[in-house]
Amino acid sequence: MKITLETAPAAKLECDALISYVFEGEQGKGNIVEGVIAELDKAAGGLIARLATSEEMAGKPLEMTLLHSLPGMSAQRLLLVGAGKREKFGTSDLRRMAATAVRYLRARSVKRIGFFAREANRDAATAEAVTEGLLLGDFDGDTYRTDKRSGPIESAVLIGFASGAEAGLERGKIIAESQNFTRALGNEPANYMTPRILAERAEAMAREAGLAIDVLDEKRIAELKMGALIGVAQGSVEPPRLMVVTYTPEKPIAGAPVLGLVGKAVTFDTGGISIKPANDMEKMKFDMAGGAAMLGTMRALAKLKPAIKIIAVIPSVENMPGGRAQKPGDVQIAMSGKSIEVINTDAEGRLILADAIAYAKQLGVTHIVDAATLTGAVVVALGSVNSGVFGTDEAFTQRVLASAKAAGEKMWQLPLDDEYRELIKSTIADIQNVGGRWGGAITAAWFLREFTGDTPWVHLDIAGTAWLDDAKPWAGKGGTGVGVRTLVELAMNFPTNSTGK
Ligand code: BES
Ligand code: ZN
Ligand code: ZN
Repeated sequence: MKITLETAPAAKLECDALISYVFEGEQGKGNIVEGVIAELDKAAGGLIARLATSEEMAGKPLEMTLLHSLPGMSAQRLLLVGAGKREKFGTSDLRRMAATAVRYLRARSVKRIGFFAREANRDAATAEAVTEGLLLGDFDGDTYRTDKRSGPIESAVLIGFASGAEAGLERGKIIAESQNFTRALGNEPANYMTPRILAERAEAMAREAGLAIDVLDEKRIAELKMGALIGVAQGSVEPPRLMVVTYTPEKPIAGAPVLGLVGKAVTFDTGGISIKPANDMEKMKFDMAGGAAMLGTMRALAKLKPAIKIIAVIPSVENMPGGRAQKPGDVQIAMSGKSIEVINTDAEGRLILADAIAYAKQLGVTHIVDAATLTGAVVVALGSVNSGVFGTDEAFTQRVLASAKAAGEKMWQLPLDDEYRELIKSTIADIQNVGGRWGGAITAAWFLREFTGDTPWVHLDIAGTAWLDDAKPWAGKGGTGVGVRTLVELAMNFPTNSTGK
């Protein structure tokens, strides 16, 4: 979709459909057809106002009113989207509304659209959110369908914006395209997305974006003695890969922090010898969503150019049962030297992340954020609304939470009290990889913490948020690309002094 900014008057914009929005009126009073919408209504001879009076259009959130061939308007259709209460309206609503409108119009074979911003929403931040919404809504997850149900929108013209909104449009494009890149990786079936293929996709992305990339193969992984990662990988005929993608600013600041982004990329999680039930197992192709989020984030950062150096470390394996697979009770020695008793081979994400975290530290990162579809327990706790957040450094954790808020991605902090550490004590090794039935998301986070040492670290458990089970008006079923917007926001605003505070 080609998106441009123009200054054309709304009534004169030629396109298949012009999108705008109406706020809900206060009960019993207030005309919802006001401001620039009232001006359009005037041109249309009062047709819009009549719909409002008949209460067919009330401005309720995401209510759709599609009007054809209005007199006085050059656009073939006018789509008025309900925006809900004006006081509650923000950039997240704009993003969602734009995405919903695109999905609605795509289904009606519309190709050329316009988006008319309302009086109070004309700045760069609005242009960014709208651009993101349009591109996210236009994403299709039907890669392998031979009878495509609807084609993409060809062009979108943003009108009604203030000068200076152009920068928002550009930023929105970069971020949404990167989030869609992450979504597409997550949707790939595991036969088209092995660790080797993921590494190739990462290499192609890095080449295109101008990022440095180092892909470690099984030989180099063995040389580094990444026993925890190798233990998971050994059950599969597909060899593991460890991707290291680096962004270096043009003018590096001496002593500035180096942000490490570590993402779990299990291209398929059968559970291994502790095999998962057949029901829903097909979903485990998205167990690489954390790694995909880090690749999408790096893609965006290469274009947005933050002030600090960023290193993404993405361990990738296939977790399979087999003659060589590790067995419950096996002990593995991690790269850090810690011994791990593998009680359950299905708790594999934390094993590969343990070695990736150790390697990121060796590469010199001063702060770490990891993202992983790590536990079913976080889905029990938070459902599919919030990602779980854990951290060792409160200031850093709050910074990540603030970034999530600004980016419109919901995240909720969960505790990491010392008492939970007891649950992963092993009888024969330093630590065991599961902590029993209760507090599963917390014991998983505690396991990771054991490998972070004193490096400030935040863990995002995205098991409930990286995949949409049922289509929403603003997004189709499948990968969500969660994490990308938050991590871009975090990196772009990261302090450049040595403490990172
Ligand atoms: N990839 C799963 C976690 C998961 C579950 C993601 C559901 C998305 C939806 C992870 O590797 C796993 O299997 N975790 C186990 C841990 C348990 C064995 C301690 C789990 O959550 O059941
Ligand atoms: Zn698992
Ligand atoms: Zn997993």
